[in-house]
Amino acid sequence: TEKVFILAIESSCDDTAAAVLCGDKVLSNVVARQNIHEEYGGVVPELASRAHQQNIVPVIDVALKKANVAKEQLSAIAFTQGPGLMGSLLVGASFAKSLSMALNIPLIAVNHMHAHILAHFIDEEGFDKPTFPFLALTISGGHTQIVKVNDFFNMEIIGETTDDAVGEAFDKTAKILGLPYPGGPLIDQFAKEGNPKKFPFTKPKVEGLDFSFSGLKTQILYFIQKNVLINPHFIEENKHDICASVQNVIIEILMNKLKLAVAETGIKQIAIGGGVSANSGIRTTLKAAEGKYGWKTFIPKFEYTTDNAAMIGIVGYQKYLHDKFTDSTVVSKARIEF
Ligand code: KG4
Ligand code: ZN
Repeated sequence: TEKVFILAIESSCDDTAAAVLCGDKVLSNVVARQNIHEEYGGVVPELASRAHQQNIVPVIDVALKKANVAKEQLSAIAFTQGPGLMGSLLVGASFAKSLSMALNIPLIAVNHMHAHILAHFIDEEGFDKPTFPFLALTISGGHTQIVKVNDFFNMEIIGETTDDAVGEAFDKTAKILGLPYPGGPLIDQFAKEGNPKKFPFTKPKVEGLDFSFSGLKTQILYFIQKNVLINPHFIEENKHDICASVQNVIIEILMNKLKLAVAETGIKQIAIGGGVSANSGIRTTLKAAEGKYGWKTFIPKFEYTTDNAAMIGIVGYQKYLHDKFTDSTVVSKARIEF
């Protein structure tokens, strides 16, 4: 059978990413990160679009070179249609359209959230693939969802955040502590040397499988402000314990909802995805749940957790196999139907 080469482009937020896949194997996975947003404490959409414009051609060039694949060998081009920042999405979509037209090959539109979930189907040594149906917990800077995944193209959201995403809870806590954006990875790092039981934060009361993180954020802010008034060095002196305690309550919130989702659906296969699934505390707790509750858990390879194009490529490959192509009038969507 003929080899299928997919070029995948991801530009939904602040990272410009390109990957080349041969079937379900990743040949190259390149990400140009934008550090221009650090000093603003969050992603600045106008700056993000401009940086995508600067980076997209070089990033794609590097991805093709690393994969040792010529443009002419490509079978199709997959790109992120949404959700994301409109100006950022437009850069990737327009580039994908032009290249598919120039090479006369099909175009495939990919939902970024589906991609975070289906990243588990990338063929990687030492990583098992889930079987359908399974539950996916997608946790990122923009989303917090529990999804029942029935098939590659059939998924239902059974729980989601009613306000902030879990990544925002990490990033906003980091901001309160004076750490640069995005603070999630730093909280993870400091938490390793802290006492998770030192500062007990209360978990929000939310019905069913939904989440809420805005109350927790306010609780953390008031707690820090109150303590800094008493002791101006409170943050420096307790940095590790604060991070460990915040991370601990977030993990408890996520685990409680997962336990409820398993009880409601009877599905014991759990896959995680999205930037926050890079968190080492979440990874260890989830692994421990295998022995504790008899779950089978799927934790993606580190490079497929935060935004990347390989995950767009694996969805592109599945869509290619099922002839799910799009025409050149396709439009980017900041919000997208699941
Ligand atoms: O999926 P992603 O790269 O972009 C979005 O689609 O949002 O997720 C980025 C989020 C940020 O909030 C970042 O702080 C968080 O993932 N993150 C982490 C860790 N690594 C990234 N949060 C906690 N612990 C980490 N190790
Ligand atoms: Zn993402």
